[in-house]
Amino acid sequence: MNILFLISEVEDIVKTGGLADVGKALPIALKELGHDVRIFMPYYAQAKRTFKLPDACVKQVLHANEQRYEFGVKELNFENIKVYLIDYPEYFADEDLYSKTSQVSNSEKFAFFSLAALKASESLAFKPQILHCNDWHTSIACYMAKHDPQIKDFYRDTKSVLSIHNAAFQGVEDLKNMKCVSAHQSHLYVDNGHINLLKTGLIHADKICPVSPSYAQEISTPLGSHGIDDVVRHRQNDVIGVLNGCDYEQWNPETDPIIAARYSVDDISGKAKCKAALQKEFNLPVTKNTPLLGMVCRTTIQKGFGFILPMLEQLLHHKVQIVIVGTGEEDITKPLAEIAAKHPKQFAFINDFQSEYAHYVEAGADFFLMPSQFEPCGLNQMYSLAYGTLPIVRAVGGLKDTVKDIDLSDGNGFVFENPSPDALLNVIRKALLLFHEYPAQLTKARKRAMQVKFTWDVAAAKFQSIYKQM
Ligand code: GLC
Repeated sequence: MNILFLISEVEDIVKTGGLADVGKALPIALKELGHDVRIFMPYYAQAKRTFKLPDACVKQVLHANEQRYEFGVKELNFENIKVYLIDYPEYFADEDLYSKTSQVSNSEKFAFFSLAALKASESLAFKPQILHCNDWHTSIACYMAKHDPQIKDFYRDTKSVLSIHNAAFQGVEDLKNMKCVSAHQSHLYVDNGHINLLKTGLIHADKICPVSPSYAQEISTPLGSHGIDDVVRHRQNDVIGVLNGCDYEQWNPETDPIIAARYSVDDISGKAKCKAALQKEFNLPVTKNTPLLGMVCRTTIQKGFGFILPMLEQLLHHKVQIVIVGTGEEDITKPLAEIAAKHPKQFAFINDFQSEYAHYVEAGADFFLMPSQFEPCGLNQMYSLAYGTLPIVRAVGGLKDTVKDIDLSDGNGFVFENPSPDALLNVIRKALLLFHEYPAQLTKARKRAMQVKFTWDVAAAKFQSIYKQM
C-alpha cells in the first residue's frame, strides 16, 4: 500500500516528545512490511539548520479564502524512507516548534501544513490508499482530503487513520484566525466561533487509533477525555487502540554504548555498576544499599507532579535516593530545585534534558517513577522494563496496558490507582520494602521485566490489518 504519513515530529530530524519516537519507528516498521510510506513534516528552522535539502518539486501554490500560499517541498532520504518537508518560512521559522509568541496561531500553521502536504503529495503523484495523521497538528487533513475543493478529487479513494497520542492538545482557535480553512465550514467542528482541529479530525477520519487500548477507553469517558468524549462516543465503532512499540535497538542494556556497563537477563551484575555511575554523575553518595528512584520526563502536570510534590519531603524521610531529570513548567521545576537544595545527599534534580541522562537513569535506578495523571501510551516504562528497573506507575492509559503489579504472579512493577499523593507514597513504600526485605524476589521481578517485549512489528501489523480492512 501507499501510505501518506503526516506528523509534526520525527526523531533524529526534530523532536520534543514521544510523538517523534513514533514518527520514526512506525514508518520504518510499516516499510519493513513492504509498504511505500512517505512522511510529510514541516521544514522547521531547527531542521533547516541541520539538513540542507534539495527541492522535491517546483514551488507549490494554494489558495484559501483571500490568502495565497506559495511554498517549497524539500526531500530527505531518511532510513530509506522519503521524508518531504514543507518549506514555508512565513510559518516555520520559529526556534520553537510550537511557538507561543508568534503572530500566526499554531492551529493556522498546522492546518496550512496539512493542506500543503496533501497538495504536495498530489504534485509528486504519490497517490495513497491510506492517509495516516497524528494528533491535532495534522488531524484536519482527514477533513481536507474529503472536502477541500483543491485536492479532494485526488484523494477520492483514500482512507484515513487518525492516531491520538495526546488528546489534551486539540488546536482550538478563533475561526477568524484560520485563513487556510476554506469556505466549507459546515464540515468543521466549531464551537462558539472556534474551530477544534482534533475534533474535526475525529469526525472525518475513517478510523481513530489512540496509542493504547486503555487510552481508547478513557477518551470515551468524561473523566479521561479532555472533553472529546462526546465526539469519540459517536465514533465508537471506528475506535481501535493500538499500543506503541519500543525501539529495542536504542534501548537494550546488552548493547547500550552509553551506559557504564552492559548487562542482560542472564547476567544482571552490570546494573550495579550503572547505579554507582548514576550516583556519581549526579553527586549522590555511592552506595549499593540505598534504593534509588529515577524519573525522566517533561516536568508537566500530566506526569504526576501533583502527586509527587506534596509528598516528596515525606518520602525523603526514608532511606532512599531520587534522581529526576527533566525540563518544563516553572511551577514544578522551582519547588523541585528547592527540595533538592535542602536534601543534596538524597535528591538530585537535573533541570536539563540530554538523551544520555535518560539512559543513565534507566540503567542505574532501582525503580522508575511514572505516576502520570494521564498517559496515552508512555515509552519510559517500556524502557524501564527492558532495563530491569521496575516501573512505579499509575493504572492509567498505556501504563495500565504494559506494567503488571508486583502482587500478580507475573508482576514486573508497581501499580496504584487513586490519583493522590498518599496512594503514590504507599506504593513507593511497597517498593522500598521489597528492596530491603526481599532482594531475591526483586531480582526475579527484574528478570521478568527484562523479558517483556513490545515491538514495533506487532504495532505495524495491527495497523496493516486496519488499513486492509478499510
Ligand atoms: C505523547 C503521549 C505519550 C505517548 C507518545 C507517543 O507524548 O503523552 O503517552 O507515548 O505521545 O504516542
